[in-house]
Amino acid sequence: MRWMIAVALVALVGCSKQSSDNKASAPSGEANAPAAAKKLVIGFSQVGAESAWRTAETKSIRGEAEKRGLDLKFADAQGKQAQQIQALTSFIAQKVDAIVLAPVVETGWETVLQQAKEANIPVILVDRGIKVSDESLYTTLIASDFVEEGRMAAEWLAKKVNGKANIYELQGTTGAAPAIDRKKGFEEILQKYPDMKIIKSQSADFTRAKGKEVMEAFIKSDGKQIQAVYAHNDDMGLGAIQALDEAGMNPGKDVTVLSVDGVKGAFEAMVSGKLNATVECNPLMGPLVFDTINKVRAGEKVPKFIQNKDQLFEQTNAAQVIGTREY
Ligand code: AHR
Repeated sequence: MRWMIAVALVALVGCSKQSSDNKASAPSGEANAPAAAKKLVIGFSQVGAESAWRTAETKSIRGEAEKRGLDLKFADAQGKQAQQIQALTSFIAQKVDAIVLAPVVETGWETVLQQAKEANIPVILVDRGIKVSDESLYTTLIASDFVEEGRMAAEWLAKKVNGKANIYELQGTTGAAPAIDRKKGFEEILQKYPDMKIIKSQSADFTRAKGKEVMEAFIKSDGKQIQAVYAHNDDMGLGAIQALDEAGMNPGKDVTVLSVDGVKGAFEAMVSGKLNATVECNPLMGPLVFDTINKVRAGEKVPKFIQNKDQLFEQTNAAQVIGTREY
């Protein structure tokens, strides 16, 4: 008797399994089957690989795209706007679902962004802003407030040097938002301190090699007059430290050095006493970038500026946090 019940049960289960399988591959199968989810195609035009910060940003965006199974078309512009425009033109021709652009400079984007707009492709700016007469040419900017970073740096320096110093400034790439804004915020605060003066200021293109080269020239012309160095990024600051070291000028002690970014190398230099402070600028944008793209595609309104919050680190807290730094 028992075996008869078992056979009946097996037959029943078999039937119901068959009927549910049939649902997925019904005779009219092809038409009713759920379409395989289409992989999102995103074009990412990156400035280049000029700094440790930039490399961290690229890694974050590429890593997150991979994690989410997206098709990310990556184009490294090697610091050239013309190459970025070319990359965007090609993304538009390929009808990508969205474009992520880290613009090397602020101006000159109208034509290509107009083409993206006409093709209905949302453009997400990351880390650097642009100047356009029509703000609808891009969807949103995800970035730090560079002017605020400049202010933070100057306020910290004013305290450190008691409102008196000959300052030497290493600017970022000419025409780039972080170079313009970090200078602007810094100078705004200096207005309150008449004895803090920028004696010389020159672009070193956000690279360590140029930071060293420009600092060597400053040392050659002004030597012991140099009391403080403000570098628009850590790479240039680290290059300046090397030049000061080689000239026997004691960076971190006789010459106060501060920079922006908060990369691992800056923390190591603070722990070893050569860099005095760094203002963090968070490059780990991957998750936020793709969450934002999803929102835009779902028709949600996103703010025009999505701000990353930053903080300043100095020698006194560097050793404590160095182990927790992700970039
Ligand atoms: O746009 C962000 C800046 O660009 C970073 O501070 C710098 O390191 C980079 O190259």
